[in-house]
Amino acid sequence: MSVAKPLPHDAAALHVTGAARYIDDIPTPNGTLHLAFGMSEIACGRITELDLMKVKAAEGVIDVLVADDLPFANDVSPSIHDEPLLSDGTIHYLGQPIFLVIATSHHAARKAARLAEINYDEYHPILTFDEAMDAGSHFEEAPRVWAKGDIDAALASAPHRLQGQIEMGGQEHFYLEGQAALALPQEGGDMVVHSSTQHPTEIQHKVAEAIGKPMHAVRCEVRRMGGGFGGKESQGNALAVACAVAAGATGRPCKMRYDRDDDMIITGKRHDFRITYDVGFGDDGQIAGVGFTQMTRCGWALDLSLPVADRAMLHADNAYHLPAARITSHRLRTNTQSATAFRGFGGPQGVVGIERVMDHIAATLGLDPVLVRQRNFYEAMDKVGLSAPDASAQSQDASDHQVQAGRGRRYGGEFSPKPVVQTTPYHMPVTDFILHEMTDALLEKADYADRRAAISEWNQNQPILKRGIAFSPVKFGISFTLTHLNQAGALVHVYQDGSVHMNHGGTEMGQGLFQKVAQVAASRFGIDVSAVKITATDTGKVPNTSATAASSGSDLNGMAVANACDTIRGRIAECLAGLHDVSPEQIKFANGKVSFGDIELPFAEAVQTAYLNRVSLSATGFYKTPDLSWDRIKGEGRPFFYFAQGAAITEVVIDTLTGENRILRTDILHDAGASLNPALDIGQVEGGYVQGAGWLTTEELVWDDKGRLRTHAPSTYKIPACSDRPDVFNVELWDAPNPAQTIYRSKAVGEPPFMLGISAFLALSDACAACGQNYPDLQAPATAEAVLAAVKRARG
Ligand code: MTE
Ligand code: MOS
Repeated sequence: MSVAKPLPHDAAALHVTGAARYIDDIPTPNGTLHLAFGMSEIACGRITELDLMKVKAAEGVIDVLVADDLPFANDVSPSIHDEPLLSDGTIHYLGQPIFLVIATSHHAARKAARLAEINYDEYHPILTFDEAMDAGSHFEEAPRVWAKGDIDAALASAPHRLQGQIEMGGQEHFYLEGQAALALPQEGGDMVVHSSTQHPTEIQHKVAEAIGKPMHAVRCEVRRMGGGFGGKESQGNALAVACAVAAGATGRPCKMRYDRDDDMIITGKRHDFRITYDVGFGDDGQIAGVGFTQMTRCGWALDLSLPVADRAMLHADNAYHLPAARITSHRLRTNTQSATAFRGFGGPQGVVGIERVMDHIAATLGLDPVLVRQRNFYEAMDKVGLSAPDASAQSQDASDHQVQAGRGRRYGGEFSPKPVVQTTPYHMPVTDFILHEMTDALLEKADYADRRAAISEWNQNQPILKRGIAFSPVKFGISFTLTHLNQAGALVHVYQDGSVHMNHGGTEMGQGLFQKVAQVAASRFGIDVSAVKITATDTGKVPNTSATAASSGSDLNGMAVANACDTIRGRIAECLAGLHDVSPEQIKFANGKVSFGDIELPFAEAVQTAYLNRVSLSATGFYKTPDLSWDRIKGEGRPFFYFAQGAAITEVVIDTLTGENRILRTDILHDAGASLNPALDIGQVEGGYVQGAGWLTTEELVWDDKGRLRTHAPSTYKIPACSDRPDVFNVELWDAPNPAQTIYRSKAVGEPPFMLGISAFLALSDACAACGQNYPDLQAPATAEAVLAAVKRARG
């Protein structure tokens, strides 16, 4: 069978030879025009005068559009109508598009865009957490609060109590292919749009609104992105809409791509967070209750900030059972780029909060941080007497007392006759928890105990360099929290020669989704994956798709494609059964053959027979994730179908004179269920880890007090290079079938490993702690400066 094979990415050869086609490589018709935005130079205010004379007169300029020139909707927001394509006169952030230049070349458009003379009434921008809190600048009227148990009583009666705070910066996506779109006008004003987007249906939708047509007049096609990482869920809307409007105005094809600096200045990034905590715990390090206050800077427009902030709250527990918890979330409106989806979608920020708490508890009690984590882990699946996640467990907070007794069994406590499932702070039973076994295996594989002892000894003898080591787990909820998005469609054609043409609603951004889903299709038909044609995502083939996001691409589209294939397979079987007088169930599809009794036909021959007997060899497929229910206002329900899990141990070294640091070794065990493709999944784990470590170490976004992003190019914004990957990097998959009924019992793998990068941050904190007696309180990103400051704090 094709699934489970470690096949290379279907476009690997094209990627490495430069032959893979991205938006800017698509040959354009003669007369194609190029676009650029004129951008605001202030962060907050009103335009009092906009003089575009010089822009219009510049060489190569065909036309210049402002908000009033837009024929229909002036809006590119993915959530509410709060994001004009071109400023309506109000300025919300530095870099906001004000006018659109249409020119004969990319360079002519960009050059002309600089020539505007703009006068503003400038207001004081709201930039920081404190400014936004003081000004009451929120997206929701009141902070969102979710709670479980009696947190005040838990804090008051706990033997130990701690408070603290950690801030973590945002993150630039730094996809290698920047945002880009190409609109080709069709007869009757229809539009074909090529876009580098994770969400073709959203592009279709926003373009249709902007040109005043129904969605059927717009077709969006996406062959691949050169990386998306969440940055192309909504941020491509502006370019696609600009191209379509300009193409409508001029009747000519229009293309737009952001230069790297413009891309970084205009588009949203990961949300930065400030998390404060108040935790009560016992002598053994077990948490009795914890309160978190999460603040996040959402930027100027809503975009996807509510579900991102929700997901941060949903991951405030990470892998740990919190008997009592209260999570308060402030979604702050600031005069900065509108923060958006980024791998993990708020989850990583929530996880950093609780991981800091674990670290702080361990330091306070002088316990090994791994032990404290293990003691707080959710109860293992077998310990709660369940084997499948949907085994009727009801959320009951009162029952958590019994769980405490149940937990005792693991640590030598008394036997509890009535095991009860533990619940998350949002009252969802955790029934598929496998991190106990995974952690034990990882500690052994990474030789943790011996290495920790060796590091302590080394640190005692080294005055300048200090080493640190840390473990961190991840438990990540899989499903869109907006329940209706958990659906997918597919369209599969089988041609007379037995070759298969596969379409689904997912998009390819490097993660290997197309290959995995092609492996599913090949497996359903029992043919080789080379017989399956992977085609561009196209809203004309599969409609009403969700963004390829929330790591759900293969879960959703794999099932939808399997469903379409099974329909066709059933028809072929039916046809052959009738001809040969056997039952359809007896007909098997395997090894490129269709067989029953003694008869064995090559797949192509079986297909030919079906065709000659006038059997339809084309089918749509559909899938919706079962068993989801979620009330985001109350913070109650079952938002996730299952949890993907993983664990990492990272060792680092710091230079206490300069703060410079290196990752020396990383060991990872990651749970991809029964992997659809272990080679691609390991690639996702490696890439996710490095990107997560980059977020918390070298990647620093800096805005000045005018709201100008000072780090808008690779010269000032440092993403990990090949040389920054761990010197020793051992990544293995934990190959266990998903108890939830996913496609071939695989698990989503796109985002969860990002959070394993947190172990690098914790290891740096551990190295800082080796410098003195105090808790180092390392803040993120742990740049050289931040490490030096933490070393100083540790020394007191
Ligand atoms: N891997 C690569 N190479 N490039 C990407 O842009 N995006 C990540 C992850 N892995 C990304 C990636 C994000 S944010 C998500 S949500 C998932 O892939 C989306 O794809 P999937 O649902 O097919 O896993
Ligand atoms: Mo990923 S942040 O869900 O696109």
